Amino acid sequence: MTAQIISGKDVAQGIRAELAEEVAQLNEKHGIVPGLATVLVGADPASVSYVTAKGKACQELGMKSFQHTLPAQTSEEELLRLVDQLNRNPEVHGILVQLPLPKHIAESKVLYAVDPDNVGRLMIGEERFPPCTPAGIQELIVRSGTPTDGAELVVVGRSNIVGKPIAVMMLQKKAGANATVTVCHTRTRNMAEHTRRADILIVAAGKAKAITADMVKPGATVIDVGVNRIGFTESGKAKLVGDVDFDAVKEVAGKITPVPGGVGPMTITMLMKNTVRAAKLRL
Ligand SMILES: NC(=O)c1ccc[n+]([C@@H]2O[C@H](COP(=O)([O-])OP(=O)(O)OC[C@H]3O[C@@H](n4cnc5c(N)ncnc54)[C@H](OP(=O)(O)O)[C@@H]3O)[C@@H](O)[C@H]2O)c1
Repeated sequence: MTAQIISGKDVAQGIRAELAEEVAQLNEKHGIVPGLATVLVGADPASVSYVTAKGKACQELGMKSFQHTLPAQTSEEELLRLVDQLNRNPEVHGILVQLPLPKHIAESKVLYAVDPDNVGRLMIGEERFPPCTPAGIQELIVRSGTPTDGAELVVVGRSNIVGKPIAVMMLQKKAGANATVTVCHTRTRNMAEHTRRADILIVAAGKAKAITADMVKPGATVIDVGVNRIGFTESGKAKLVGDVDFDAVKEVAGKITPVPGGVGPMTITMLMKNTVRAAKLRL
């Protein structure tokens, strides 16, 4: 049987409608408009399109958007100065520094300037702002009706922005989590043995077709985080695929997210949700 497609686009739209309502209420009752600042260094085409999408989402929800585009040769000091200014701007409730940054800038320094203690809180399940992509993944799992309590959950990838945080979030003693978590990476021996056990398989490897049909348990929920550019369409748009061999895996899985239209729209929506939350916390 073909898997049910989990549309991140539809789920994201539902959450955005809820958020638009919250934004309107905040403005009406307290005269506050949540504001998101984005900082882009250089002109990497993928980064430009991500930042543009974030600006559009703000507009859609009635939020303020402050877009800062800096030249590729911007120094680390200049960038830190801008982040500091944004931190102190009362109209800004969220700051997004688009990664990757040019090689001469230490990403960790800039990230510490934005968000010093959230990672520690995440570890003990008390984060104020769940990281956007993992938060989007968790919403997709829960809203698609996939049970997580005691589920065998396998994450492929151990990056600081996706693999590690989603593994920690799904492990917490909480509703929508409580999973038995395994994390795989390039040194994992016989990865298929792990992925085949998974009731929930989350793939964030950044490698097209890293997961083939024989690696998936029949009926599993598969969340494909990967975004791989594999050329261009005739109209010149980038052609995107995930990390999962979608056409074959959808014949084995119970539920599966597409690429594009799966995790991507959720990530932006969770960024908006965190910004609204920050505005509320400041109240
Ligand atoms: N849709 C969205 O909103 C969104 C957001 C963020 C990222 N992404 C996409 O998600 C993917 C992952 O992003 P990331 O930042 O987490 O990537 P990353 O920093 O490159 O990390 C990739 C991880 O996958 C592991 N890995 C790579 N190939 C593997 C393989 N064949 N078998 C097992 N493990 C493998 C690596 O292992 P080692 O640690 O051993 O090297 C690493 O831990 C990318 O395609 C990215 O574009 C999408």
